[in-house]
Amino acid sequence: MKFTQAGNFLLLAGLASSCLLPEERAGGSIRRPLNRRQGSNGKAIGKGDRFSAGALFPRGIGSGNATDLSTILSVAEVATGLQGLVKEYGITTFATPYKTYEGRTITGAKIGGSGTYHVYLNGAIHARERGSHDSVLYFISDLLYAQKHGTGLTYGKKTYTNADVIKALSTGIVVTPLSNPDGVNYDQTTNSCWRKNRNPKSSTGSASTIGVDLNRNFDFAWSLKKWAPSVASDVASTSPSSEVFQGTAAFSEPETQSIKYIFDTYPKIRWFIDLHSYTGDVLYSWGSDTDQSTQPYKNFLNSTYDSIRGITGDSVTTKYGEYISAADLSDVKTAGTRFGSAMSTAAGRAYTVMQSAFLYPTSGASDDYAFSRHIADSTKNKVYSYTVEFGFGNSASSCPFYPTDAQYTSNLQETNAGFIEFLLAAADIGLE
Ligand SMILES: *[C@@H]1O[C@H](CO)[C@@H](O)[C@H](O)[C@H]1NC(C)=O
Ligand SMILES: *[C@@H]1O[C@H](CO)[C@@H](O)[C@H](O)[C@H]1NC(C)=O
Ligand SMILES: [Zn+2]
Repeated sequence: MKFTQAGNFLLLAGLASSCLLPEERAGGSIRRPLNRRQGSNGKAIGKGDRFSAGALFPRGIGSGNATDLSTILSVAEVATGLQGLVKEYGITTFATPYKTYEGRTITGAKIGGSGTYHVYLNGAIHARERGSHDSVLYFISDLLYAQKHGTGLTYGKKTYTNADVIKALSTGIVVTPLSNPDGVNYDQTTNSCWRKNRNPKSSTGSASTIGVDLNRNFDFAWSLKKWAPSVASDVASTSPSSEVFQGTAAFSEPETQSIKYIFDTYPKIRWFIDLHSYTGDVLYSWGSDTDQSTQPYKNFLNSTYDSIRGITGDSVTTKYGEYISAADLSDVKTAGTRFGSAMSTAAGRAYTVMQSAFLYPTSGASDDYAFSRHIADSTKNKVYSYTVEFGFGNSASSCPFYPTDAQYTSNLQETNAGFIEFLLAAADIGLE
């Protein structure tokens, strides 16, 4: 299913939207209407500190006695939860060298492996996609608990043995549970369905012109000149009021610089997940145009194709498709299919596995950047990359990205079953 044309959104309004609501997709500069339905704000945000400044540690939903899950983790609790894991399991955390506009740090954690990290999981790059940082933090909490206590993990109808846990951990995992802390803090304190970061640099004064869409700010076909005129206003926007405002330059933002820093600092990363909501999709490369495996010269670097890049409906043979080798395509599909199938089984809701561009083409997205690194610079590792859209939306909420209590629980089961299955698939397919 594909949403490409601005006029279609009324027809599609009842369907899933994946990160962007249909009305937000309607051209580059159109904002959310102010008259959207009002209702509950979904599951509440945690007040206080359930980890007592790191004296207590998080337990995930898979290890049998989860932390109090009655509220969503606040920004502060992600930090104290990580401190709790450091204290309980002796893991290493680190701060990236870039501070956000509001002065926050982006914290990462490293688990498993033997000093080498092959998998990177990123959470909460879009502020309003509630449950993303919870999924990442609770997942590593589960792996660490199960390793220490010699147990397996159960997520709904998916059960993994202790041997699975050890194998999953052997891949070496870097996580940044909360990559957009300013945006999440703002969203959690205002319930404003906020997506972007909080950088006001391009603001024209009104509140809605604050912020950059971090998932349009990566250095992958960032310039709109790289795109067919008919899609250029959809793949990202130069307007600060847009939900897909791309920023003033590729990597203009400390949050995206932090993610680049992780790929540069852990050069053996081979697999990457960026965790979003919602729609129930596992999306694999590419997100720019239809995949093709026969004409390597048709790729994002080749300016010959700038005027036709991003039109997914045309012929890849006579027009343009993004090159991915047949072997790589097979590998990303195999792991993506295992990921999606574990998610579908965990809570009984069906996930779709498909190419990213078939949702809608995007410029400057994290997953395309990650997979493009080895093509733009052959000294860099190849990184199989995915955007995962967990959950199916809360139609009773003023912001459908805010889950109900029941949805939050299903979402955690699905993402965490998907993550472990994905790590096992990565180990099976290859880490080098
Ligand atoms: C579950 O965890 C809570 C708080 O972390 C603890 O008080 C309780 O004893 C635990 N229950 C079991 C059965 O381990
Ligand atoms: C770009 O595409 C053109 C047209 O097919 C081709 O002649 C050229 O070699 C390509 N450039 C690169 C660097 O692959
Ligand atoms: Zn998103």
